[in-house]
Order: sequence, then C-alpha cells, then structure tokens
Amino acid sequence: MSSQTDEPPVRFWSVDEVEALDFDPAMQEMLDDGGLARIRMPHGEGDAWVATKYEDVRLVTNDPRFSRAALAGRDITRMAPHFIPLDDAVGFTDPPYHTGLRKTVASMFSRRRIEELRPRAEKIAEDLLDAMEQAGAPVNVMEHFTTPFSVAGISELMGVPQEDWSRIIGWTLLVISSAQGRRRSEQAKEEIGAYFDALATQRMAEPRDDVVSHMAAAEKEGRLSRQELVAFAVLMEVSGINSVRFNSANMVYLLLTHPEHHARLLAEPDLLPQAVEELLRYIPHRNAVGMGRIATEDVQVGKVTIRRGEPVYASYVAANRDPEKFEDPHSIDFDRSFNPHLAFGNGPHYCAGPWLARMEMQVMLRGLLDRFPGLRLAVPPSEIRWRRGELIRGPEAIPVTW
Ligand code: HEM
Repeated sequence: MSSQTDEPPVRFWSVDEVEALDFDPAMQEMLDDGGLARIRMPHGEGDAWVATKYEDVRLVTNDPRFSRAALAGRDITRMAPHFIPLDDAVGFTDPPYHTGLRKTVASMFSRRRIEELRPRAEKIAEDLLDAMEQAGAPVNVMEHFTTPFSVAGISELMGVPQEDWSRIIGWTLLVISSAQGRRRSEQAKEEIGAYFDALATQRMAEPRDDVVSHMAAAEKEGRLSRQELVAFAVLMEVSGINSVRFNSANMVYLLLTHPEHHARLLAEPDLLPQAVEELLRYIPHRNAVGMGRIATEDVQVGKVTIRRGEPVYASYVAANRDPEKFEDPHSIDFDRSFNPHLAFGNGPHYCAGPWLARMEMQVMLRGLLDRFPGLRLAVPPSEIRWRRGELIRGPEAIPVTW
C-alpha cells in the first residue's frame, strides 16, 4: 500500500440508491475535492483509487501502466459480488493482445457498416410503433418499444435467432445485476456462454453474415480461441441489450420531463444527433464505477503517486460532469456543439458498439417523436419506479400516453 502521508482518507462508497437520474452525491463530493479519491465498495477486498476529473480519467484509461490483465486473481473492492465479463473476455486483457481480439469484430461495428443497418432498424421501429399504437394508451414504452428494439438490434447483428431472444433477455438481466447474488449471476453467465458456444459451432459449419459467423471464421483461422469467442460474444450481447435499453429509456424519461427540450426536438429534427450526444453525456449511465485497473509500476497522477499493484478506477460518469471540461455540466444543453464526452469510455477499452448505440438511439427517438408528437408521461414523474441495486441505472417502466 501507499506510503504517502498526504494521501486522501478512504471513503466507504456504499453506493446508496440515487433517485431518478440524479447525479450521485458521492461522485459530486469526489469531483469537488479534485484529484484522486480513495474508496472502498461493498464487495471485494481493500481499497482503491478512483479518478473522477476528466483529464485524470483519460490518463488512467489510456496509460498502459494501468492494466486490466493484472486484475487476474485479484479480489479488488467493487460494487457487485461478481465480475460482469466472463474470465476470457476482452475486458480483462491488455494491448497488443486485446487489440487482436477487438480486430476480429471491428469491421462489423464500423460506422459505415452500422449506417447500412439503419433502414432495417427503422423498419423494426416502425413495426413496434404500429403495435404500440394498436395496443392503445397508456402503455409502458419500455415494454412495447425501447426494450424489444434494443434486443432486436444487437441480436440480429450477432446472429441470435428470434425464438431465443426471451431466454437471452433473462440471462443478460441476471448477469448485470448485483442484487440477485453471486451464484445466480455466475450461473446465468455460464448458461449464456454455453448458448453462444453452441451458436458458434453452428455458424462455423454454416456461416451467415453475422458477428458470430465472423468470429467463428476468425477462430478457424486461429485468431481467437473458442473461450475468447464466447466471452466476447456474451459481453457484446449483454452490453448491446442492456446499455441501449436503459440508456434509451433514460433518454425518453428526460425528454418527457423536460418539455422545453422535447419541444425543440419536435421543432428542429436536425438537432437530434447532437441532442443524443448531449443526453449520453448527461445520463449517469451506471452506479458506482465499472471495471478497475492495476498499476504495473508507480505512476504519478496529479498530486498522488499510485503505487505498483494498487487498484485504480475511473468514473466516466463523473468525468462527464467535470466543470473544467464542460460548462454548466449539470444542465442539458442541446446547443453544446463541442462535446467530447466519455459516455463510451476512453482508451483501448473504448466501447465496441458506439456507432450501433448512437444509430439505435437516433432511430428510437426519431420514431417516437414522429409517431407520437403529443407523447407524455401517463403518471407523475414521482411515480416512476427506478431500478434498485443494479449496475446500470434506469426506470423499471415508463407509462406513457399520447
Ligand atoms: C448507450 C449505449 C452504450 C454505452 C453508454 C456504453 C458504454 C460503454 C463503456 C463506458 C464501456 C467501458 C470502457 C472501459 O472499460 O473503460 C464499454 C465497453 C464495451 N461496450 Fe459499450 N456501451 C453502449 C453500448 C454498447 C453496444 C451496443 C455494444 C455492442 C457491441 C457494446 C459493447 C461493449 C463491449 C464489448 C465493451 C468492452 C470493450 C473492451 O473492454 O475492449 N456497448 N461500453
């Protein structure tokens, strides 16, 4: 452990429930204090550093002296009882090895390739909106639209047949939960892993134009092992469903509770891509912090020296509210034209699906705005129930009318 005498005291970050989409007051305190903080969370051992300021977060997430591979065998302090990715997942690897894994799917998620999928995504949205209109108000827009859309988007791209989607949703929810206990989450990880293992075997025999077939071809050429394929595929499916479904629900909630922003998007449709970027910056996507890293040598970050072997976290959510980077960071400003937010992370572990996520958010919001210009909450905002004890934040349901 560090021998410095001026190091900050360790805070216990219990990760209490934060209301609606409020910014976690613990994060605010750490940002206000500046520099790196030391934290202990409910699970794992010891304490860890956490970077919250924009520039510190960029450094920690992009400096090769902070390693993901070095997490192996360490039970570092964390929010959830289990680790989210499977052991062989990209999240636990470092470049250059990590770069090779990411390359096996990069072309399937490129901006150009994702743009080609937009018409298909618009068709999925149209069909779901037709069904929602037919169901008649009030409806839970998450159940009728944002969730099935998110599941369809990533699953079609991965190559998961529609008849398996409901099983997949069940597993992914257990994997990202910290509230169901370690055993159930680990079991769900194994089951979804076995599912993708079988799918890869099928696609190796009969390839199609989907991500799993692409990965199976890479496996055949010796560019990744079956375990790596499975762990990466699971991570993409889990993130592709849950990050998008809750982030889009949060976006819908924010628009319906900020009539001035809602009205602007109705009046100025071209503003949508920029508005989505601002909502991505503003939304506190997750509770606490994601996966940590381990310092492989002593590193100076601002005023503190992180010692070799010490765990370090970086909060993208906090960095997105750093007043030194974003003017008036706690307000939603669709005119923010320079918006280098870190909602998709930074450095080598930068999100694998940002173009897919962006395209899906734009298609969903555009579809809702066009189809239901009078869309509004069917209950007072105070009656919306929020997910509890979960890693990714979002509402349980959003009842709407039009
Ligand atoms: C609004 C939606 C999304 C948000 C906010 C989001 C955000 C993030 C963030 C913050 C990271 C972590 C960076 C780090 O570990 O330092 C990440 C990683 C990742 N995301 Fe996303 N993501 C979203 C959608 C998606 C989608 C659609 C996919 C589908 C492929 C995806 C796949 C992944 C994967 C595989 C990783 C791990 C990358 C690695 O460790 O190399 N995400 N994402």
